[in-house]
Amino acid sequence: MNLAPPPPTPSLLPESAPFSPAQRAWLNGFFAGMLSVDGNTATPLSPAESAALIPSPPTQAKGPLDDGDDGQAPWHDQTLPIAERMKLADGRPLRRRMMAAMAQQDCGQCGYNCRDYSDAIVLRTEERLNLCVPGGKETARMLKTLFGEMDNPAPAAPAAPPVIAETAAPARTEIGRSRDNPTTATFISRTRLNKPGSEKETWHIELDLTDSGIDYRVGDAFGIFPRNDPRLTDQVIAALDAPADFPIGGRTLREVLIDGVSLGPAPDMLFQLYSYITGGTRRQSAKALSAGGNPDGDAETLDVLAAIEKFRGVRPDPEAFIEALDPLQPRLYSIASSPKVDPHRIALTIDAVRYPINGRTRLGVASTFFAERVEPGTKLRAYVQRAQHFALPADPSVPIIMIGPGTGIAPFRAFLHERMATKAPGRNWLFFGHQRSHHDFFYEDELAGMKAARVLTRLTLAWSRDAAEKIYVQDRMRDVGRDLWAWLAEGAHVYVCGDAKRMAKDVEAALIEVVAAFGVRSTNEAIAFVAEMKKNGRYQQDVY
Ligand SMILES: Cc1cc2nc3c(=O)[nH]c(=O)nc-3n(C[C@H](O)[C@H](O)[C@H](O)COP(=O)(O)OP(=O)(O)OC[C@H]3O[C@@H](n4cnc5c(N)ncnc54)[C@H](O)[C@@H]3O)c2cc1C
Ligand SMILES: NC(=O)c1ccc[n+]([C@@H]2O[C@H](COP(=O)([O-])OP(=O)(O)OC[C@H]3O[C@@H](n4cnc5c(N)ncnc54)[C@H](OP(=O)(O)O)[C@@H]3O)[C@@H](O)[C@H]2O)c1
Repeated sequence: MNLAPPPPTPSLLPESAPFSPAQRAWLNGFFAGMLSVDGNTATPLSPAESAALIPSPPTQAKGPLDDGDDGQAPWHDQTLPIAERMKLADGRPLRRRMMAAMAQQDCGQCGYNCRDYSDAIVLRTEERLNLCVPGGKETARMLKTLFGEMDNPAPAAPAAPPVIAETAAPARTEIGRSRDNPTTATFISRTRLNKPGSEKETWHIELDLTDSGIDYRVGDAFGIFPRNDPRLTDQVIAALDAPADFPIGGRTLREVLIDGVSLGPAPDMLFQLYSYITGGTRRQSAKALSAGGNPDGDAETLDVLAAIEKFRGVRPDPEAFIEALDPLQPRLYSIASSPKVDPHRIALTIDAVRYPINGRTRLGVASTFFAERVEPGTKLRAYVQRAQHFALPADPSVPIIMIGPGTGIAPFRAFLHERMATKAPGRNWLFFGHQRSHHDFFYEDELAGMKAARVLTRLTLAWSRDAAEKIYVQDRMRDVGRDLWAWLAEGAHVYVCGDAKRMAKDVEAALIEVVAAFGVRSTNEAIAFVAEMKKNGRYQQDVY
C-alpha cells in the first residue's frame, strides 16, 4: 500500500500576489479546477492573468462584520495609561475594549498585534489572557474582567458573537519567525557600553545566526526566551519547602522554575491559590490581592518569592503552585546590526534592569540573563519579529533623522551600518542622548568613524546629567530647529526609538514645535503636519 502523501498542488499564483495563505489556497483550488490543470503541466499565471480571473476571493474581514464597530482605535497609543485607554473604548464592542486593555505597542511579543490578540480571545482561538508582556498585570487583570462578559454579556454588548476574520489566530509561520516557532541562535559575547562609574549598565550583545535558518532586516526586533536566575529559583524552592526534583510534566520543579514560568510580579492566580489553602486574615488578604486589591499596602512589591514569604508556612502543592504562575514570556530587542555587513551575526543593545525592593535586588529576567548569566556558545531559543512599520526609506537617497536616546540607539546603529554597506547616498542625522558624556556615549568610536566617512552626516548629543540642568534630545531638537525643519522640508523621514512612556511623546511635542516655529504654521497645522508624516510613513516609532 502506498502511504506517500499526494504531491502538493503547485501554486498557480505568482509569489508577489498579495494574498494571505488562506486566500492563496482557496484561489489555487479555484484556478486548478477552472483550468483543469494537473500537477505536471500547470504554470503560474501572470499577475495580470490572475487579477483578471479572480472572482471574489473569501475576503479577510477587516474587523467586525456584525458588531457595528467602525474600526477606529483612538486608544491605540502606548503613551496612554490603561485607565484612559479604557475610557476611550467605553461603549465599544467587547473585543475593542479588550484591545484597549493591551499595551498598544503592537510589539508582537504575544504572537499577535494588539488588535488580533483581542480578536483571538473573543473568537476563543486564544485562551491565554496573560500574554501581554508590556501590559503586565494591569492588562491581564482587565482582560480577565472583560473575558467574564463573554459568557455574561453586559446589556450594551452585542448578543451574537462578532464575526471576525480567521486571521485572528496567530499564523503558523516559518521557523524563527514567531514566538510559536522559534529557532536557535548562539550567544557569542557581551561588551559593556558604559565606562566604569556609570549609573547605567548597558551591554552590546552579539549572537551567531549561522545554524538558525533565519534572516532579518534592519528595523526588525529579536525575540529571545530567557531563563530565570538559578539563585532566585533556588530561593523559591527553599521558600516553598518543596523538593527541587519534584516531578512536573516529565520535568523537575527546578527545571520548570528556570525556564517555564515567570518569577516576576506574583499573578492573581497565585493569591487565589493561597486564599484556598489558608484561613483567617491571611485568607482575606490573599483574596483581596487576587482581586487586584492592596490590603496590606505591599501589593507592588510582591514578586513570586515575596508572595511565598508573605504566606510563609502555607505549603501549596508544587504542581498547583506552578499552574498558578504565568508562563515565562520571550522578550524583544531592537536589532542593532545590519545583515548587509554580516548576515550570520546579530547585535543587540541591552540595558540591564535591576532595582532594589525591601533589601533584595530584583532582576529583569532577560536583560540580566544577557548581562551576567548566559555563557558564550550557549544556544538560545529565539526568533526575528518583523517590524511592521519601522524601516529605512525604500529610496536610499531620502535623508533620515534618527532620535534614539539610551538603548534607543540600537536600530539606528543598524540603519547606519546598512546605509554604509549599501553606499546609500541619503544624508543621516542622529540625535543621541544619555546620562553622562564621559560614561554613557555608546558606540562613540564607531560613530566618529562613520562621521569621518561621511556616512553620519550630523550627530547631535544631549547629556542629561553632565550639568545641573537636564538636557534631553528634544531640547537639542529645538536648539537646531531651523536645520531640522530644512531637512523635513527636503523630505527627510523621522525615526524615534527608546522609552515610550516619556521620551516618545516629548520628542513628538518638540517636533510639532519645530514645525510650527520654522515651518511657519499654527500649532494645529503643525500637529496636522506631523500626523500626516505618520500617515505617510515619514514618522516612525519603535518605542517600548
Ligand atoms: C519592540 C521592542 C524593542 C525593544 N528593544 C530594546 C532594546 O533595544 N534594548 C533594551 O534594553 N530593551 C528593549 N526593549 C525592552 C525589553 O524587551 C525588555 O522589556 C527589557 O529588557 C526588560 O526586560 P527584562 O526581562 O530584563 O525585565 P522584566 O523581568 O520584564 O522586568 C521589567 C519590569 O520590572 C519593573 N521595573 C523595572 N524597573 C523598576 C524599578 N526601578 N522599580 C520598580 N519596578 C521596576 C517594571 O514593571 C518592568 O516592566 C524592547 C521592547 C520592545 C517591545
Ligand atoms: N518604566 C519606565 O518608565 C522606563 C523609562 C525609561 C526606560 N525604561 C526602560 O529602561 C530600559 C533602558 O532604558 P535606556 O537605557 O534606554 O535609558 P533611559 O532610561 O531611557 O535613559 C536614556 C536617556 O533619556 C533621558 N530621558 C529621561 N526622560 C526623558 C524624556 N522625557 N525625554 C527624553 N529623554 C529622557 C535619560 O535622562 P535621565 O535619566 O537623566 O532623566 C537618559 O539621559 C529599557 O528597558 C526601557 O524600557 C523604562
